[in-house]
Amino acid sequence: MADRQPLIAGNWKMNGTRASASAIRTLLEDLEPSVSNRIDVVVCPPSTLIREFYALTTGSAVAIGGQDCHPAAFGAHTGDISAEMLKDAGASWVILGHSERRQNHGETDALVREKVDAALRSRLMAMICVGESLEQRESGEASSVVKEQLIGSLPAKALAQNIVVAYEPIWAIGTGKSATPDDIAKMHAMIRQTLRETQGAEGEGIRILYGGSVKPSNAKEILAIDDVDGALVGGASLKADEFIEIIKAVP
Ligand code: PGA
Repeated sequence: MADRQPLIAGNWKMNGTRASASAIRTLLEDLEPSVSNRIDVVVCPPSTLIREFYALTTGSAVAIGGQDCHPAAFGAHTGDISAEMLKDAGASWVILGHSERRQNHGETDALVREKVDAALRSRLMAMICVGESLEQRESGEASSVVKEQLIGSLPAKALAQNIVVAYEPIWAIGTGKSATPDDIAKMHAMIRQTLRETQGAEGEGIRILYGGSVKPSNAKEILAIDDVDGALVGGASLKADEFIEIIKAVP
């Protein structure tokens, strides 16, 4: 993995209430320093839990992130949340351009890029998600679709220390069916090459995560693939024991 620090991030999506703090306590108890010293761990709960999870994890190796932000810093945007607010609540990361946002909220690459810019202005690390649909994969367009999303969503000033790319094939999300190691290797190599082309030397240091049905049973194989610098984990991140097993599977 060159000198890129591995990263395992949990995307809780619209799951969790204050009672879920027990999962964070278990995670903190079971995360040994020998593991957390060499692996970055991030939990992205719903916005309502950021403050509480931040308080629980302060001083620990676990960082907290949001799942989306508005491009503007404040204003008349009912129901939205700004990067500055996430930061204020204790987040240091934010997931942007997740396929569920692109699909359910019509987010375009241009909007995702604006959101990434807003995140960087608020000094949040941005986790930019890209990924093709089953239809696009079956028609042989996966690589070109992902490349276009990546180029369209990435601001010029993206650096290894402020962004991470997550490749998440839509058909693998929440389905229990992950991409094959060969498909993952090819896509991550293409993403790495694109990052080199667009970001120059910085592109070498930008971490690329895989996401889509990562679980304890397949984590080891996936995390050993070249240019897979970690994972974005949905369902399995809700259970502390499974999430820890995935963290420990990092080579
Ligand atoms: P999953 O979700 O691990 O439940 O497939 C991944 C994601 O959407 O980030």
